[in-house]
Amino acid sequence: MELKRYLKERKELIDRVILDYLPPNPPFGLSLYEAVKYSLAVGGKRLRPILCMAGCEITGNDYRLAIPIAVALEMIHTYSLVHDDLPAMDNDEIRRGYPTTWKRFGEATGVLAGDALLNRAFEVISEWDFDSERKIKVISEIGKASGMMGMVLGQQCDMEAEDRKDVSLEELKFIHKYKTGALITASIVSGGIIGGGDANTLSVLRRYGELIGYAFQIIDDVLDVIGDEKKLGKKVGSDIENGKVTFVTFFGVEGAKDEAKKVINEAKVFLKEFNENKRVPLEYLADFIVNREF
Ligand code: IPE
Ligand code: IPE
Ligand code: MG
Ligand code: MG
Ligand code: MG
Repeated sequence: MELKRYLKERKELIDRVILDYLPPNPPFGLSLYEAVKYSLAVGGKRLRPILCMAGCEITGNDYRLAIPIAVALEMIHTYSLVHDDLPAMDNDEIRRGYPTTWKRFGEATGVLAGDALLNRAFEVISEWDFDSERKIKVISEIGKASGMMGMVLGQQCDMEAEDRKDVSLEELKFIHKYKTGALITASIVSGGIIGGGDANTLSVLRRYGELIGYAFQIIDDVLDVIGDEKKLGKKVGSDIENGKVTFVTFFGVEGAKDEAKKVINEAKVFLKEFNENKRVPLEYLADFIVNREF
């Protein structure tokens, strides 16, 4: 299947179902629900769900089996963006082409909407009627990747590196690995777990995920410098404004792109473990990550 159509179809599938995974409106406190729905409905690329479904597919299972996990991952990712945009963090006002959640609903509701999304994600997984052993493995995988041994730790380090001139490449790589790489890795690995992948499959998926996750953040940093705001749906120049150290600070735009390409090629080598037909979507996705303009 052609890459563009593949990405579009998988994204649209998630767009169609994601709001069905929310509870019915409560009699009071409706703004929280509106803020959560707003944040989820204004969808981005849905890359983490797409990776999760691809991870499931490579085990020989139907990708649709992984939909509840894919939805939960997008809830966690969306929460991370809602909090990332807050005035206390990156102080951004546009996300996915619309006002950020805090800008639209106020800061406090922005904080609470993020909290609600995170918790809902784990409710969705645990309430899903599926093999308990695999579900627990996935909960542990995603919990670790999004929390204090994953994304949240990365966000803290990212913040602590602001306006510092002495950030080393090692520290920058650590930040990328945790703030972005961890959840991307968990997305593909949890798809593999749900599909019943064996230890070798899961370890290939993990290595692939780590590498594409790292490259993903390098390109995010590049696009923050040379991207088109309309295509990206977010403000360009946010990193410089916030005194962030990025791959572009270290290597310049071209150097950063070269590093991303090198990493993506490494990731593709790992995929040789899978047969040629099966690995095509993961090769597509790796290329998309490095060539994307949004
Ligand atoms: C942006 O993620 C934040 C990072 C982790 C770099 P995406 O670029 O996947 O954002 P959406 O979901 O498509 O909006
Ligand atoms: C955010 O990184 C990573 C998250 C965990 C949300 P950025 O701050 O670079 O993401 P954007 O550029 O605002 O999307
Ligand atoms: Mg940030
Ligand atoms: Mg940001
Ligand atoms: Mg960025």
